[in-house]
Amino acid sequence: MTLTAPLPGAPFFHYHDGALKVEDVPLSALAQAHGTPLFVYSQAAILHALAAYQRGLAGRNALICYAVKANSSLAILKLLAQAGCGFDIVSGGELARALAAGADAAKIVFSGIGKTRAEMLAALQAGVGCFNVESEAELETLSQVASASGHVAPVSIRVNPNVDAKTHPYISTGLKGNKFGIAHERALAAYQRAAALPGLRVAGIDCHIGSQITEEAPYLDALERILDLVQAIEAAGVAIGHIDFGGGLGIDYAGDTPPAADALWARLLARLDARGFGQRPLIIEPGRSLVGNAGACVTEVLYLKPGEQKNFCIVDAAMNDLPRPALYEAFHRIVPLRQPGAAATPATYDVVGPVCESGDWLGRDRALAVQPGDHLAVLSAGAYCMSMASQYNSRPRAAEVLVSGAQARVIRPRETLHDLMRGESA
Ligand code: LLP
Repeated sequence: MTLTAPLPGAPFFHYHDGALKVEDVPLSALAQAHGTPLFVYSQAAILHALAAYQRGLAGRNALICYAVKANSSLAILKLLAQAGCGFDIVSGGELARALAAGADAAKIVFSGIGKTRAEMLAALQAGVGCFNVESEAELETLSQVASASGHVAPVSIRVNPNVDAKTHPYISTGLKGNKFGIAHERALAAYQRAAALPGLRVAGIDCHIGSQITEEAPYLDALERILDLVQAIEAAGVAIGHIDFGGGLGIDYAGDTPPAADALWARLLARLDARGFGQRPLIIEPGRSLVGNAGACVTEVLYLKPGEQKNFCIVDAAMNDLPRPALYEAFHRIVPLRQPGAAATPATYDVVGPVCESGDWLGRDRALAVQPGDHLAVLSAGAYCMSMASQYNSRPRAAEVLVSGAQARVIRPRETLHDLMRGESA
């Protein structure tokens, strides 16, 4: 029997006698039972990632609001709700999902720069814990919607601390040129306005500086700036309440070494304590770091296509299932479900999907010893893959399976051709 260590970037995936397993379940059995492309998640991996935050924040008045956009599947939301999480939502759809999964509305924070009046009203009626407001105009509208419906909206203002999260420009959000938040310099006036509006109650302050952050420094910088602001705003007579530091902690996609959540929080809490904010209620909004490394997408090799400049390995998953490479040139490790024998000679392939676009690639220049009919796993696919999947090229969305120990449960069936055309009329 050959046992190997967990795979890098996929802590609950490992080879056993040459076959890739997630927890105690061989991925090939799942592919056979449910077809491909197939998203497979490890429940233990999600709870393990959550535990690092829970350890880091133990003994504090802190709420972990999972960012639903990372992976909004109901079973995953329910798992996290049962583990004590609240949720960070950005739409009426995410509100409905969180409530359907059993979320406590009081533990929901509603972020996003473009909330509609209808979404505001739905969130007020549900009783969400806080609206993270991103502009002065939104403050006015929210106050009107709340007053007109007999509510008082708890608000936090998302402040843009103008720090460089040192991540991909599309997922960096805390810089001056970004569309997010209210500029640091305008925050005090915005809080004074919020405190004066009849439909609002100031509940906190928030920031979110970006995503896939792999260094500690941007968090420490943002923390100091936010605390400076809290001091200035409170000195001007507006009590702030909680501090919400957003999400953004990165994961290992390609040998990345982000700080561990507990180590990062030990450092941040030490600074909070040093500055006299140790007793403040805290909120955080992690997404990717809770689910990203817990998932993989299993795909079948359809064809090998040798070429003059490139060899292509054409698989049945595509950019509609795994949009991150096409959108951000993101790297995901790709590994075989069965380890090749010693005699196999790998070739270098671009792993591509069937979609009719050159941007439809999943991995470039990968050394693989594969044949048509073999299966591959695209790793670190638990976050921002299924939640960003589409039906482009009229491809039904993939199925999802949640594994716990030796148990595997379909949490979303593969879409059918009927699903593809549902509600349309010719
Ligand atoms: N809070 C707010 C206000 C956010 O905008 C986000 C993510 C989060 C929390 C969660 O951030 P996380 O912990 O997951 O980094 N589709 C991109 C990522 C977009 C992130 C958008 N905002 C990707 O695939 O890399």
